[in-house]
Amino acid sequence: MRIDKFLSQLKYGSRKEIKEMIKAKRIRVDHELISDFDYDVDPNKQNVYVDDEQVFYQSSIYLMIYKPKGYLSAHHDSMHPCVMDLVPSPYNRFDLNIAGRLDLDAEGLLVLSNEGSFIHQVTHPKSHLPKTYEVVLDQQFSHEKELLAGVEIKDGKNETYLAQALNLKIDRNHVIIVIDEGKFHQVKRMFGACGYQVLNLKRTKIGQLALGDLEPGACRPIRKEDLYD
Ligand code: URA
Repeated sequence: MRIDKFLSQLKYGSRKEIKEMIKAKRIRVDHELISDFDYDVDPNKQNVYVDDEQVFYQSSIYLMIYKPKGYLSAHHDSMHPCVMDLVPSPYNRFDLNIAGRLDLDAEGLLVLSNEGSFIHQVTHPKSHLPKTYEVVLDQQFSHEKELLAGVEIKDGKNETYLAQALNLKIDRNHVIIVIDEGKFHQVKRMFGACGYQVLNLKRTKIGQLALGDLEPGACRPIRKEDLYD
């Protein structure tokens, strides 16, 4: 890949700015100071340095992040802070996407990646990847049978859809629920269909990947196998 394209994709500047950096002898590949604007670099085999600092590169990035309440599952917004604002360097140099969203008032586990096929795999309804949520309700829960059998909610096309809990653990108004779909507001609407209001919603697991001891707002690299092991 051309060095100017490589560095501009990693947000070191526009291609014009990278050319200026090359002219100013600020860019090195392994031991060689670069002077050709169209220098071809193989970032999987060669180390690139900007001002003697090594450029971090991986073709695929997978991250877990703890979305705090009040953050949007988005890149940018004029009203609210966004999950992408929490991604630290060097990962924030990559074009990451979010695999599935959490509501503004929800918290917990989100997975990010720059690999489209991975995002698709995690979010596609046919993948049936189980997701675990810890829920606090407005009152003691007593509709276990109904949620395990499935409750009717409307999907995006206003058609009725049977939403089923795969597993439930109940401690008065605290419920841990596992579902393997991700329709809009699904957990809130499933409890709503039985007459409950969700006061707090926290996603603690996607597949086999658990939030664990990650603090709100923190982010950590994962392997994509961690969701499936
Ligand atoms: N279900 C919801 O209702 N909200 C979320 O954010 C995730 C699942």
